[in-house]
Amino acid sequence: MPDDKQQGLYRGLTHYGDIEFSRYLRRSFARSMGYSGEELNRPIIGIADSGSGFNNCHRHFPELIESVKRGVLAAGALPITFPTISLGEPFLHPTSMMFRNLMSMDVEEMVRAQPMDGVVLVGGCDKTVPAQLMGAFSAGRPAIQLVGGPMMTGRYEGERLGACTDCRRHWSNFRGGDLSVTQIEEIEGQLATTAGTCAVMGTASTMACIAEALGMMLPKSATIPAVHADRLRAAEATGRQAVWLAQQKLTPDQIVTEKSVENALRVLLAIGGSTNGLIHLTAMAGRLGIDISPQRLNALAETTPVLVNLKPSGTHYMEDFHAAGGLPAVMKQIKDLLHLDCLTVTGKTLGEELDGSRPWFDKNIVRERSDPVHEKGGLLALFGSLAPNGALIKCAAADERLFEHEGRAVVFDTLEDMAERLDSPDLDVRADDVLVLRNAGPRAAAMPESGYIPIPSKLALQGVRDMVRISDARMSGTAYGTVVLHISPEASLGGPLALVRDGDRIRLSVSAQRLDLLVDEDELARRRAQFESKAQKPSRGYEWLYQKHVLQAEHGCDFDFLRRCGVDTDSEETEK
Ligand code: FES
Repeated sequence: MPDDKQQGLYRGLTHYGDIEFSRYLRRSFARSMGYSGEELNRPIIGIADSGSGFNNCHRHFPELIESVKRGVLAAGALPITFPTISLGEPFLHPTSMMFRNLMSMDVEEMVRAQPMDGVVLVGGCDKTVPAQLMGAFSAGRPAIQLVGGPMMTGRYEGERLGACTDCRRHWSNFRGGDLSVTQIEEIEGQLATTAGTCAVMGTASTMACIAEALGMMLPKSATIPAVHADRLRAAEATGRQAVWLAQQKLTPDQIVTEKSVENALRVLLAIGGSTNGLIHLTAMAGRLGIDISPQRLNALAETTPVLVNLKPSGTHYMEDFHAAGGLPAVMKQIKDLLHLDCLTVTGKTLGEELDGSRPWFDKNIVRERSDPVHEKGGLLALFGSLAPNGALIKCAAADERLFEHEGRAVVFDTLEDMAERLDSPDLDVRADDVLVLRNAGPRAAAMPESGYIPIPSKLALQGVRDMVRISDARMSGTAYGTVVLHISPEASLGGPLALVRDGDRIRLSVSAQRLDLLVDEDELARRRAQFESKAQKPSRGYEWLYQKHVLQAEHGCDFDFLRRCGVDTDSEETEK
């Protein structure tokens, strides 16, 4: 038996009223799986496997996990895999966002309840990495992240295609009459052609980069393509490193600090990352008692250039980013803006890791500081009478000509209302209007990625490709356009978004960081008095739990009972 009876197989014994019997029984049952007594005496590294037949992005996980196991064994520990919930982005109703917190609870509880000295978190698709890190941060065991890596691009008639920015572009062209039914069907088969996560700087790639920037993943492992042999070597190295982390008892709270969260924010801005990245990072940091203020985001954005020329903000794909030098190349460019003394899972500081990385990088894809893709960071928090607690715009993926814009509101009251009327020839809409979608926030609809409101087809057919669109929803990291998201408080809680009526004037000012409803206060008070929430009231199950406890976007949409930061939940209690 192991010397330390609190380690390895003997951690957290099942209660039978007799500790020695509990140890004996556990060992006996473990031996039924064919392990020798010698193997069972080793430290145990759990491997959280989020593979699933409903997750195309994770279809290579069996091979990846074999490599992790090899690394764990080589370093002298026993690898034991365990399944968790998997969240395959396009396969979940109403939206994967609703289940991120559920997966985080699954990971937290299983890491804590099962006998493991450390854990390798194997994830990839959008919500899986934040869910795994949220869970691991709360569980407090030594942990290391491994991601599945991005897909390779496909080809259609000589053009490179990558999910899912090109999915949206071609669908938009199809709606605008530029592609035939046959062509759009042929393209469908070429958009996602290998295992791995979306091929652009979408949410999955953003979260992989954030995990690396936080120090929770091996350096330069965020960007390795899913099917590259380096991905398997990174998996093996991750397994080895997990054993070292367990030996050192190095827990995530020693790695993820206010400083490393700020590094991650800088990276989010410099890579032109997904708007979802901010929500997830806020939720992850919140598990360790670290708050992120939108004002701080804007202050960092002022001094952080966008340096990565990748879709949806630029022109290239994740496989190009990796070949160009990957995340270390970006971090080296903004080295003076980072906290270099932050510890990483390697046991070295970020500064030491960057000093040890290769100096070469491809300047077409990772730009130099003197030649950025955009002078200032890609994301900007907005405030104003329409968003008292904040909203977000991805400037890097928006049309600068619409940054200072005033227009008539065209309001869609719910997702269903939008689906019904958006393409109606009778819709009273012009290209300079502001499209408004509401009752799509965390409490009302679990905040789906519907904020990328399609251009009404009557305008799309006239060649309109972008308009100012605002909502309390989210947007896919692979989407682009002048889209204001995450408006808080959401409409179903009685936020000002609920008071907008067709024809009202709305003003967006990126320079002033504001989003305003130009209606006088007396009229708004009259409308407020008539407000009725449109949120459904589930009576049971996870849906009930979710709606009762989910927080607003500025708190990462975590549950109030999981977040360690102080949150004045009373302010979000108007419609429980
Ligand atoms: Fe999984 Fe895009 S669908 S990352």
